[in-house]
Amino acid sequence: MKYMTTAEIREKYLKFFEEKGCKRMPSSSLIPDDPSLLLTSAGMVQFKPYFLHVKELDPAYVGTTTVQKCVRTNDIDIIGTTGRHLSFFEMLGNFSFGKYFKKEMCAWALEFSTQVLELPAERLYFTVFEDDDETIEIWKNLGVPEDHISKLGEDDNFWRAGPTGPCGPCSEIYFDQGPEVGCGKPDCKPGCDCDRFLEYWNCVFTQFDGQEDGTLAPLKTKNIDTGMGLERIAAIMQGVTNNYDTDVLRGLVAVGERLFGKTYKTDDATDLSLRIVADHSRSVTFMIADGILPSNEGRGYVLRRLLRRAVMHGHKLGIEGPFLSHYIEQIVNEMGHVYPEIVENRELVERVVASEEERFGATLRQGQAFLDEALSKLEGDTLSGKEAFTLHDTYGFPVEVTEEICAERGIKVDTAEFEACMEE
Ligand code: ALA
Repeated sequence: MKYMTTAEIREKYLKFFEEKGCKRMPSSSLIPDDPSLLLTSAGMVQFKPYFLHVKELDPAYVGTTTVQKCVRTNDIDIIGTTGRHLSFFEMLGNFSFGKYFKKEMCAWALEFSTQVLELPAERLYFTVFEDDDETIEIWKNLGVPEDHISKLGEDDNFWRAGPTGPCGPCSEIYFDQGPEVGCGKPDCKPGCDCDRFLEYWNCVFTQFDGQEDGTLAPLKTKNIDTGMGLERIAAIMQGVTNNYDTDVLRGLVAVGERLFGKTYKTDDATDLSLRIVADHSRSVTFMIADGILPSNEGRGYVLRRLLRRAVMHGHKLGIEGPFLSHYIEQIVNEMGHVYPEIVENRELVERVVASEEERFGATLRQGQAFLDEALSKLEGDTLSGKEAFTLHDTYGFPVEVTEEICAERGIKVDTAEFEACMEE
C-alpha cells in the first residue's frame, strides 16, 4: 500500500466521483438548514431536499460528491480515549437521487478501494442489512468471497440522520487492521467493539422517508448516500491504527507538544489531554467560523462545552493563559484551502475563543479548588446537585465537565438535583 496524505485522499475521492458523473459541491455549513438537527453530522444533510425531490439536481449529473465538515458529540466522553472517535471530522461522500443505485455504488466503492487506494482486497470485509440478499449477490458478483460478507441488524446496518427523514439499509466496508490490534476472540468479526475491523465506508441505500409515527414511507426514487470518514481512511493509508497518528491530527498534537513542552506517547494522562485539545480545537474553529457563538443552550452550549473542555485540558497540561490561537493558526494553514470560511472568519474565531478562554480561565482555578474541597469532604459516592450548580453558575463549569472530573475519581453527580437547581 502506498502512503497517501489526507489532502491526496480527499482530492482523489472527489475526482473519482466527478469522473463518474457526480457534481462536486462544497461542504455545507455546520448549522443545518433543518430544524430536526442541531448540527450537521453527515454529508447527506444538505441533500435531504434532493432525496425528497423537493429540489432537483441539474440533469447533466448522475449525483453529487462532497467532502463535508461534520460535528458529532453524542460520544464526547470517549473522545481522546480511543483512536477512532472525533468530535470534528471530514466525511467524503457521493449521493444519487434516483440515478445510480446499489450495483453501480458497490462496483465504484470496490474500484476506488482496490484500484485508487490500492487496498489489498483480502483485507476488506463487507456487511449488509439482515434482509438484503440482493447486496450480498452484488458483492459476490464483484468477486468478494462469501466469507468476507456478513449480515448485521438495524443498529449497525440501517442508517438514519435523526428520527425522521430519508433513511435506508446500508452496506459497510471494513478494513482488517490485523489480529494484533484486536480483541483476539475467535469470533471477532466486523461489528465487534474492538479495533481490528475498522469501518471506513458506509453505503446507504436511501429508499425511505421515516415518518413521525415511526413508519417508513417509500421515497419516490431509490437513492444513494455514502460516507467515508476521511481521518479513518487516512489512518489506513498511513499505516497507523489511531486517527491521532495521521498527518493532520498528529500535526495538531505536535502544536500541543511544542506549546506545553510535552512529548506525545510518554504518559497516558498527557496523551489524553493532547488528543482532546487537538480534536476539540477543530470543532471550535469550524463552529465559530460558521456563526455559532458560545451560549447556554442548543448548539452554542455544545460549542461552550467543547471550548471549556479544551481549556481545562490545556490547564492540565500546565498552561494557564490563552493558548488556542496556536491551534487555530495550524488549522487555518492546513485546512483553509478546502474550507475558505475558516480563513475569512479567522479573526472572529480568534476573538470569540480568546474571550471565552479568558472568561473561563479566570474562574477555572477557583472552580477546581472548590471542587477539590467538595470532593475531599464528600461522604458517599455522589457530588450534590447544589455543588454542581455552584460550579456551573459561579465558575462556569458545564455540568458534563464536572461529571467527567468526578468520574475520573469514581464519583457520580446528582444530576436530578442539579436540574432542579437550574429550574429554580
Ligand atoms: N450518512 C451515512 C453516514 O453518515 C453515509 O454514515
